[in-house]
Amino acid sequence: MASCRIGNDIYSVGILNPAMRIFDVVMRTDYGTTYNSFLVRGTEKTALIEVSHATYFNQYLDNIKEVCEPAEIDYIILNHCEPDHSGALAQLLPYCPKAEVVVSRAGSIYLKNITNREDYPVRIAKDKDSLDLGGKTLSFINAPFLHWPDSMFTWCPEEKTLFPCDMFGAHYCEPYTFDYHTAYPDKYEIAFQGYYDAIFGPFKPYVISGMEKIKDLDIERICTSHGPVITKEGRLSYVMEKYREWSAPAPKTQKQIPLFYCSAYGNTRKIANAIADGIREVLPEANVCTYDLNHNDLGEMAGLLNSSDAFCVGSPTLNADAVAPIWMLLSHVDAINNKKKPVLAFGSYGWSGEAIPNLTARLTGLKMNVFEDGFKVTFVPSEDDLSAAKETGRRFAQSL
Ligand SMILES: Cc1cc2nc3c(=O)[nH]c(=O)nc-3n(C[C@H](O)[C@H](O)[C@H](O)COP(=O)(O)O)c2cc1C
Ligand SMILES: [Fe+2]
Ligand SMILES: [Fe+2]
Repeated sequence: MASCRIGNDIYSVGILNPAMRIFDVVMRTDYGTTYNSFLVRGTEKTALIEVSHATYFNQYLDNIKEVCEPAEIDYIILNHCEPDHSGALAQLLPYCPKAEVVVSRAGSIYLKNITNREDYPVRIAKDKDSLDLGGKTLSFINAPFLHWPDSMFTWCPEEKTLFPCDMFGAHYCEPYTFDYHTAYPDKYEIAFQGYYDAIFGPFKPYVISGMEKIKDLDIERICTSHGPVITKEGRLSYVMEKYREWSAPAPKTQKQIPLFYCSAYGNTRKIANAIADGIREVLPEANVCTYDLNHNDLGEMAGLLNSSDAFCVGSPTLNADAVAPIWMLLSHVDAINNKKKPVLAFGSYGWSGEAIPNLTARLTGLKMNVFEDGFKVTFVPSEDDLSAAKETGRRFAQSL
């Protein structure tokens, strides 16, 4: 993409990456992405907001040159230091000899280790600090954990434009810059929600406080770091409403205590059912259901786990470990919001029984509240074993 004027004195100089299919290892990006970057020109000073991915530096430099000489840039503002926006900084700095790099205090620490250089001036932007560009002001709003500890927003009141880092972003790439030109709005909405779920979903309380900080701003345009520029004529109220809706705490009516298991010969299944009976006896109002992972959708199961109040996870020991579907489920744990969640591991085994201690170690590593040493039975559970499983379910429920 070439540069494009998007406000009176704001220019988009970012990069389109329509072919990208995986972002940050874990996110599928069916619609590619854009690395947005903006030049804001005052009568006295010029600021660049966000840099770009290291891979696309040559095109990026050409885009900047279409608007100004890089040597004219006075400030390079990084709303957070993630390499999709800071990666090209080290390559850009030699072209911008007078530029100060503007970051939050936390950002100043990360920056040293990202560029492995300290031979350039850094300015720390504290909350409510501002820069006067001459007729244009840039003011900074600290927005920690949206989505990195160093994240901040930049606000230009004269242009009524918010630069909110990755917030309101979407991995979505079209040749058009503005949201009202989006050719496939349904696909944009999928990308927008997918981006929220993956990047901002773990930080819902921070999203609510970030929204609070911008609620009185007279915003006409949001220059997010990925995807189209969001406008008042286009999707500004849509994106605000969705972020509020998705971040609102879910009303809790009933305790959710799912039991997830796999079972080759039905032994672990019997234990699951007995534990579930024990939990139901103590908590008759709770929603206690058992789920065989081989017969249920992994994404749905992960959703149930992450929104549960407590859960149980059961695996037989096969070849000295718990089985793959159980590990797949645990790889989808939202490790930020599941700390201290009560969990019970259980399963049947034949001789060495590694599944339970291995699951316990993993759950402990996730900082969950692991119940006792778990519950295990050798081969086929006897009536006594099932009574003991039920009793373990009761004790687990009483501990909640
Ligand atoms: C292919 C295979 C490998 C196994 N490997 C182990 C093992 O390494 N250690 C162990 O304690 N039990 C092992 N077992 C025994 C199972 O854990 C045992 O049969 C258990 O009762 C199966 O429970 P399930 O019916 O819930 O699948 C193995 C069983 C199978 C079929
Ligand atoms: Fe980011
Ligand atoms: Fe980003």
